[in-house]
Amino acid sequence: MEDRWETPDRESRDPEVLRDILHPAVDLAIWNRTAPTALLAELRELDLASVENLRLAAPAQALADLLSDAMRTAGYPDMPALRAHVLEAAGHLLEVSGATGVALRLECIDDNACRLFHADYVTLRGLATYIGPGTQWIHAAARNDPAPEDIHSLEPFAFALLKGRLWAENPSILHRSPPIADTGQQRLLLVIDAVEDPVTTPVSQ
Ligand SMILES: [Fe+2]
Repeated sequence: MEDRWETPDRESRDPEVLRDILHPAVDLAIWNRTAPTALLAELRELDLASVENLRLAAPAQALADLLSDAMRTAGYPDMPALRAHVLEAAGHLLEVSGATGVALRLECIDDNACRLFHADYVTLRGLATYIGPGTQWIHAAARNDPAPEDIHSLEPFAFALLKGRLWAENPSILHRSPPIADTGQQRLLLVIDAVEDPVTTPVSQ
């Protein structure tokens, strides 16, 4: 096996890195994206208190329209750069997974959410943090007593693909939401799962 597969995590500024998740030895592939200026400006103007959590399921061809509708319903102002950023991430997830659709959540978080390191019961999950500290991850071997240096954080705006338990029964990478309760910090988190034949359900919660 080539040296480059010796660790189960891969990271690059090139989106091609996302395809590495298909390798059996890789459980986390991180595309470190740079945020466009327009996106930074939109996020500066966004009041997280004025938007609701957004959740939808969509076949690939309907995603763009359904996302626009769902963002409007959830109270988002017109944010074309955020929408484009999310759609580009979803496009990569669809391409890499070969799935016919996605289940997508855009969540405002001000507590510790999933504070234990874990892997989710999905095939392939994409994560990106737009506001606040990024998702944390560790090698599973360190799960019982992770030292501070064992805990890695995704960069803001990075798009990470993680194998869930349906693709990796014993994943070598675990993740959690960063503990932010009582810090006054807030997060805006994108979660996209690859799903087959989704029932179209644009729902704002
Ligand atoms: Fe999770």
